[in-house]
Parts: sequence; structure tokens; C-alpha cells
Amino acid sequence: MKPASVADYRALSRARVPRFLFDYTDGGSYGEVTLARNLADLAAVPLDQRVLVDVARIDTRVTVLGQQMAMPVILAPVGLGGLHARRGEVQAWRAARAAGVAMALSTVSVCSLAEVTAGGGAPPWFQLYLVKDRGANAAMIAQAREQGCPALVLTVDLPTPGARYRDVRSSLTGAPGLAGQLHRAAQVLARPRWALDVGLRGGPVAMGNLTQLVGAKAPLSDYLGWISRNFDASAGWDALAWVRAQWPGPLIVKGILHPEDAALAFRHGADAIVVSNHGGRQLDGAMSAVRALPAIMDRLSGAIPVLADGGVRSGLDVLRYHSLGAAAVMIGRPWVWALGAAGEAGVAHVLALLRAELAAAMALTGRTRLA
Ligand code: GLV
Repeated sequence: MKPASVADYRALSRARVPRFLFDYTDGGSYGEVTLARNLADLAAVPLDQRVLVDVARIDTRVTVLGQQMAMPVILAPVGLGGLHARRGEVQAWRAARAAGVAMALSTVSVCSLAEVTAGGGAPPWFQLYLVKDRGANAAMIAQAREQGCPALVLTVDLPTPGARYRDVRSSLTGAPGLAGQLHRAAQVLARPRWALDVGLRGGPVAMGNLTQLVGAKAPLSDYLGWISRNFDASAGWDALAWVRAQWPGPLIVKGILHPEDAALAFRHGADAIVVSNHGGRQLDGAMSAVRALPAIMDRLSGAIPVLADGGVRSGLDVLRYHSLGAAAVMIGRPWVWALGAAGEAGVAHVLALLRAELAAAMALTGRTRLA
């Protein structure tokens, strides 16, 4: 199949990567109600058709936190994202940079920040999870400063992982014994191209930023169990102040869904927030990000930029979020699917598709610029 859309890349990736990996990224928590809401509520945002406006020249560029972007799209941090292709985050960041968009490298990425920035070139944003070992967090922040990351994204909506039924069924989580190992191995063997590209030739399969905490192997036998044992569920707003004190650059707090939390994030030093329910992977039953956005925009009334994520599958969706006030959107699953299907070229193509779709949507709604 020749991919024409984000949905096509999802289908291609499903056929290419082992099931436990596809399901981990594709899935949500519990009954996946919020995951579905993100998509349905976004699709329900109407776009105003306008005609006979001069739309011969369309400018999709925006400036967010002083950074110019070719379009208001940022590659979201995705745990194990780089496992979808050989040294995956390196490939994804190359594609993002070439497309003129930002990427936030996950704490739980496969490639370390140093690996992603090796060979020169601009560093990506860095995403931070608070772990119990604050020394490890301090080291990661110091590393992001040393590498010159243009922004730090502190994710606050995962004090503990939501229940992910698909990951139990696939033995990605809660299956440390031999039976789990065999189950995962069978899923790998069913995807020989991936096994060769990533499993055999693409190692080490580690958590690049966490090797001091985890060792040189990603805890694939109990990934979410590892997260729930090591992430700091005790963090309060003072933890944000703690990060703020060590990070002089733009600090973005990700995972806000309540207007009161938006105000608190601002008060504790956030330079921007991301309205997000973690792609429907955490509190199932929470409202969609797009429904949460207007009240948060009201509450902050322009004090800091508001970004959003959840459910973006086309350039139309980028315009929908933007029309409700989001300075930019983050995309998670779309870039990971593209990476799994076709590596760097896939990510580049998905970004080109989103940009073309956004430009067309702008033209058909009578807009020539987003600024
Ligand atoms: C962690 O970031 C997850 O959503 O699995």
C-alpha cells in the first residue's frame, strides 16, 4: 500500500513491528474511552468554509516560546518510540529537523540525548519524568542544559501508569518469567524484518537516558511495572519549583486537563503547558483534550502559551486545535507509526502530509497565516 495518510502509516506499522510494541503505542488505558473521545471530539470541531479569499500564498509558520517552526506541530515524547526502527529517535529527530519542527525526546527513549545530538546539529527538546532518585533527575536536567536543549518538558500526568490491558495481554508488562519471554519472542519472530533491523542489528535495546538507573537493557519483561516502581508518585507542585530552579530555559508542563492545574502550573513557573490526557493512556473517563482546552484558555487568558495533544491524525486536526487557541500541537502515535513503517523517510512523509493538509485546510477556511 502506498501511504496517503496517518491512518495508512498506522496500518503499515502494525504489519511491521511486533504486536507488543504496536499495542503499547496504539492502545490506551482501561476501556480506552478517553482515547476514543480524543478522536471523536476533535473530529466534531467544525471548520468554517470560506470562499473567494486570496489564498494563493499560505504561511504555516508559527513562533512558539521564541522558536520558529515550519508549522505548529511538535513530535511528542513517546516511551520506547525509538524501538520502532533502528536507532529510532535518531531517525525521527533527523526528519523533524529537516521539516523545521521540534521534537521532545522522552526520558524513556531508546536512544540517549547524547546519541540523538551526536554528529552536531541542533538538540531536541528534552522531556522529563520525575523518578524517585532525584539525583538521576538532576543529572538529566544537567545533561539537557549541557547539550543545549531549547526547552524542557516536564510530564506530570503519570505518577503511576493507568491500567493498560493490551500490555498485559501481549506480555509487555507483568510477565517477567519464561512464559512471558517466549510470548514476546513469538511476537518478534512474527515480524522478521523488524527482528533483523532492530532486534539483531539495532541494539542496544536500552533506555538510553536511564542506563545508570536501569542498566544497559530496557526492562521489556515488565516495562510498566518498572515505571510504577521508579516514577515518583509523591511529587507535588514543589517538584515543579525544584525543576524550575535548575532549568533556566523554557519549561513546559505537560499533562494539564483542569483549569485550576493550569493556573497552578503558571504560578509555579511554567513557561507553557500542554493540555493533555496522555493520549488516553492514563485516566480513562477523563474528558478529551480538545474539550478541556477552552476553559483552560479562559483561565490563563494569554498568560503563557498553551499547547495541546491527543487525537491529531491530520492537518485538519492541527487547524482545529489551533482555532481553539493552541499555539501548537504535539503528535505521538503518528510519528511512531511512520517510524515503524518506513523509518526516517516515513516520519518525513507524515510531516509533509500534515503540513500539506494544514495548508489546504487554511486555504479552504480563508486563512493565509496562523500568526
Ligand atoms: C508512558 O509514557 C506511557 O504512556 O506509556
